[in-house]
Amino acid sequence: MSEGLNLLNIQSPCFVLNEQDFKQGIHEFDYALNNHFPHHIVGYSVKTNSLPYVVAKARDFGCFAEVVSDDELELALACGYGMKEIVFNGPMKSKSQFLEAVMGGAIVNIETHREIAWLKELPIDGHYKVGIRLSVNISDISPEDADGDNDFSRFGFNDSTDEFAQAVAAIRAIPQVCLVGLHIHRTTHGRSVQFYRRSVAYAANVIWKYGLCLDYLDVGGGYYGIFRNAPTFNEYATAIYEALDEAGLIDLTIIVEPGNALIAAAFSYYSRIIDVKRLPDCTILTTDGSRNDVDPFFHKDRYMTEIHRKKESAKVVPLQIVAGATCLEYDQLFRLENQQEMEVGDVIEYKNVGAYTLSLTPMFINYFPRVYSLSSDGLKLVRDKWTAKEYIQKSNI
Ligand SMILES: Cc1ncc(COP(=O)(O)O)c(C=O)c1O
Repeated sequence: MSEGLNLLNIQSPCFVLNEQDFKQGIHEFDYALNNHFPHHIVGYSVKTNSLPYVVAKARDFGCFAEVVSDDELELALACGYGMKEIVFNGPMKSKSQFLEAVMGGAIVNIETHREIAWLKELPIDGHYKVGIRLSVNISDISPEDADGDNDFSRFGFNDSTDEFAQAVAAIRAIPQVCLVGLHIHRTTHGRSVQFYRRSVAYAANVIWKYGLCLDYLDVGGGYYGIFRNAPTFNEYATAIYEALDEAGLIDLTIIVEPGNALIAAAFSYYSRIIDVKRLPDCTILTTDGSRNDVDPFFHKDRYMTEIHRKKESAKVVPLQIVAGATCLEYDQLFRLENQQEMEVGDVIEYKNVGAYTLSLTPMFINYFPRVYSLSSDGLKLVRDKWTAKEYIQKSNI
């Protein structure tokens, strides 16, 4: 449990952000890049955890916002980012937001044919910069990191077909637009350092093949965070540097778009046991939290938990099943075998649950839970529990 947190002060179920951990992750990544690249940008991946407080804090701690929809763009601007602190990716940009972002000086990576068509509508007397996303097939460039033998991407323009060449030619033909960046995001299961060495080498090949004269390479996200026995930010930064050095491209600005690596370890989730029921072969511990909150895809098979008991129990129980607060039979989180008996009021802490949880939690049965932030200023509520009042807003009833 985070130092300085008193369980009596939090109302479960809730998430708690440890601000220091979040800040440390951002600063360590920034420091690692700074060792190699005088020009670099850490773009916080808003989708990974779009809690407004987190999005605003990422800016305070020095990040740009990496957004992939009009809604995320609007959110980032509302959280204090200027247009020049935005990295705008993905296929779901609207025409108006896309043009506004390009004209406003955001880093915009082209993802679709329609965006190229929209570029032609930019004022002819202006001078605008864009990047383009290159489709990366992991099986082709780093088989050890691939999911099967054709781990292609549905994103970006593919250079094995003629799409990338055509997209580059089409952008080059627009006089007021300059192609200045290449985006190559992929996340691999192993988040290995070698993957970045190889994907950057692949990008470098493409840069030379088309004689691209770029300002930046956007390497995307997909890194490990600050965990023991995991690659460090410095190892990733060094691999990127070495691949670019070999290709004679070290002057590029490097953009990274970490999500998981910055946010996973900074959040814990707390739920309380509200009831204990005995079945013939096990005990069911019903909690006020739900698997929906910590595992919205229902695919985790283990959690990093810490149990906070009100008192130690001498009784050991063969099987206790921790269950969630929905009516789903399968809203079960984990099993405790041959462990001390637990009782109503005991608290379960789930660690490292900040990434792709809050932003994916459904409005199912119980609405969004409270979120607290813990910093040197103490504990504060940064999102109150959503009730029917928030759910109903904008509805006609
Ligand atoms: C374009 C882009 N950038 C960055 C990220 C963040 O990835 P991660 O959370 O693995 O760092 C994603 C995740 O899907 C993404 O699609």
